Amino acid sequence: MKIGVVGATGAVGREMLEDLGESALEHCEVLAFATPQSEGEHLTFRGKTVVVKAYNLDAARSCDYILMSAGKDFSLVHSPAICKNGGPTVIDNSSAWRMDPKIPLVVPEVNSGVLDNFKGGIIANPNCAMIQLAVSLKPLRDAFGLELVQVSTYQSVSGTGLKGIKELSQQLSAYFKFETAQPAVYEHPIGFNIIPYIGPLDTNGHCDEEVKLIQELKKVFSDEELNVLATTTRVPVFNCHCEAVTVKLKTPVTRDKAREVLEDFEPIEFFPDSVRLEFPTPRTIVGRKGVFLCRLRVMNGRRSSKWLQFWNVADNLKKGAATNAVQILEYLVENKGSHQTK
Ligand SMILES: NC(=O)c1ccc[n+]([C@@H]2O[C@H](COP(=O)([O-])OP(=O)(O)OC[C@H]3O[C@@H](n4cnc5c(N)ncnc54)[C@H](OP(=O)(O)O)[C@@H]3O)[C@@H](O)[C@H]2O)c1
Repeated sequence: MKIGVVGATGAVGREMLEDLGESALEHCEVLAFATPQSEGEHLTFRGKTVVVKAYNLDAARSCDYILMSAGKDFSLVHSPAICKNGGPTVIDNSSAWRMDPKIPLVVPEVNSGVLDNFKGGIIANPNCAMIQLAVSLKPLRDAFGLELVQVSTYQSVSGTGLKGIKELSQQLSAYFKFETAQPAVYEHPIGFNIIPYIGPLDTNGHCDEEVKLIQELKKVFSDEELNVLATTTRVPVFNCHCEAVTVKLKTPVTRDKAREVLEDFEPIEFFPDSVRLEFPTPRTIVGRKGVFLCRLRVMNGRRSSKWLQFWNVADNLKKGAATNAVQILEYLVENKGSHQTK
């Protein structure tokens, strides 16, 4: 099986190669594509060197599957050309296709069923902050019903790719040399700061990231009526997004019961208060593939309530991007026959 990674030199693309290497997919060859400037660069897949090629359509169409991670504008033009006439299935990491009603938007542990009648084409990998939120809500929604979600995010700079990482590094080192590094990637300095929006603001005051998170959560749960309130912020952390989540369930629940349900859901690792010193933080869970939860509370400390709160952390380059895309690919390969690719 031949898998093409487009955007292989990027923050997400590099993790895709690593996750593909660790995946259950056997006998696969990887082609790595990027811009002509990166041609000849060496990456690693399962201990072997992969030489980066400048993207070209014929080579991409020679693959069985494409993991696309080269941005929205690139995907809008190139993904349809790759898939055309029974070409390889494209799993696209950008926001280009996510809200297209014809395109499946997939978090495998939450809604893999939408792939049951998939006949090839494009599959959209969701927004990073949405993925970890959807995973943490799924068991609560299944067990108790979900009426309202309120989330405040604390999102790392790797969410903006390698350029975000570079900007934070430069601003931190400039600060300690008593110098000023002008912001270029973000509209405000990110070093030792918090920026209260991600992406452009719309006429209602929502920023782009909030719109994505709200719309994509409703699509993944196929629930247009779900009430979702979101505040998304950028914080001076290199990797991993954190979320303070409040939910209103349809039926009241005790803290113990909610904890049991969350603990039983495989992608979640739950940390009770008794292990406070091991609580998940960006520095402790970076590079890991799961979704990490702690600080579970019931409103006003009541015995039971419809209102719950918790803290949620995940690596945005792993479960928020590369891991989720590779899991979609694994699902397609495992269920081969239910979809058609070249
Ligand atoms: N970072 C995250 O947490 C995250 C999470 C979810 C989704 N996403 C989405 O994933 C995509 C990639 O993000 P990233 O963070 O990895 O960005 P990045 O670090 O800036 O990497 C971008 C990659 O795309 C390649 N590329 C750009 N234009 C290209 C072109 N015209 N032809 C071929 N390759 C091209 C770049 O190649 P060169 O190295 O040669 O320039 C690089 O490999 C974006 O759509 C982003 O929104 C990111």
